[in-house]
Amino acid sequence: MKNFWQDIKKIGEPFLALAPMEGVTDFVFRDIMSDLAKPDVLFTEFTSAESLDSLGYDKTIPRLKFSEKQRPIVAQIWGVSPRSFEKAARLVQELGFDGIDINMGCPDKNVLKRGAGANLITNPSLTTELISAIRTGAPDLPLSIKTRLGFNKIITEEWITYVLEQKIEALTIHGRTAKQLSKVDANWEEIKKSVEIKNAVSPSTIVIGNGDVFTYADSIQRYKETGVDGVMIGRGIFHDPFLFEKSINGSSHTTKEHLELLLTHSKLFSDYWQDSKNFAEMRRFFKIYVKSFRGATKLKVALMETQNYDEVEKLIKPVLNSLS
Ligand SMILES: Cc1cc2nc3c(=O)[nH]c(=O)nc-3n(C[C@H](O)[C@H](O)[C@H](O)COP(=O)(O)O)c2cc1C
Repeated sequence: MKNFWQDIKKIGEPFLALAPMEGVTDFVFRDIMSDLAKPDVLFTEFTSAESLDSLGYDKTIPRLKFSEKQRPIVAQIWGVSPRSFEKAARLVQELGFDGIDINMGCPDKNVLKRGAGANLITNPSLTTELISAIRTGAPDLPLSIKTRLGFNKIITEEWITYVLEQKIEALTIHGRTAKQLSKVDANWEEIKKSVEIKNAVSPSTIVIGNGDVFTYADSIQRYKETGVDGVMIGRGIFHDPFLFEKSINGSSHTTKEHLELLLTHSKLFSDYWQDSKNFAEMRRFFKIYVKSFRGATKLKVALMETQNYDEVEKLIKPVLNSLS
């Protein structure tokens, strides 16, 4: 097995992962991030193993498309059926991914309803079956798990020990329970405890801490406090798309650079997804690129009305011209 996790581990600093985010870290955004300031590892959006194993295959498979520049790239899957997991794992290995990850943290009610995502925290025996199915389907791929500290309450000792006993190659811990959603601060004390458990139970497993890291400086601090190998960043990217430049004082980029990025992203989104995704999905990104300049609020409001790339260009080009 080629275990890339060991290759990205660093001495004296954490490696940084871009968190899997549904509706955000699609093929296009991962390409953008790879060109801009590349995270040390990227994940796909979570992808249903059962959908891949059904008539939903054609609709689902675009989630597992990646480009070479996105490597190392990990496919995240979710679900409950060991049979579908084995098939999905085989597919993920055939597609050439660098790793495969099981989602055991999603608190979305539609996911929980099926017994999947964070619900697996309450079902250790199914967890073991799913891990075994992945090992059978993708024997050459390192396996990682992304989970939380518990379902209703924090059970780090019990749950994290159980997961680590499965001897997986990497573990991401989002420092909250499923019930807490993102409403309370991430608990890095418990993440530190998880590192201690790892040292005792499975020293070779890579541990990644996740939750409320918004700057590179934050990630260094968390690394020093807890001993994690890596830090995963999700929403931080909405505050600073250049975050993965790893600038200790925060990145400093001009309005022009941000707006050019907005145009590039919109164009790639439009060209890549064409009619298969609604252009309105770009709206959540506009606030990343448009901020802190005179007229920004007005521009954001206008962008929210756009239906396609041409309309975005019509709004952005005059602003760019006025800046140069
Ligand atoms: C819009 C959005 C979509 C998400 N989708 C996923 C997902 O598909 N898989 C997953 O494991 N976590 C998902 N998450 C959770 C993030 O990966 C991450 O654990 C969480 O945002 C906490 O990290 P942060 O404080 O750095 O944002 C999502 C979070 C957000 C905000």
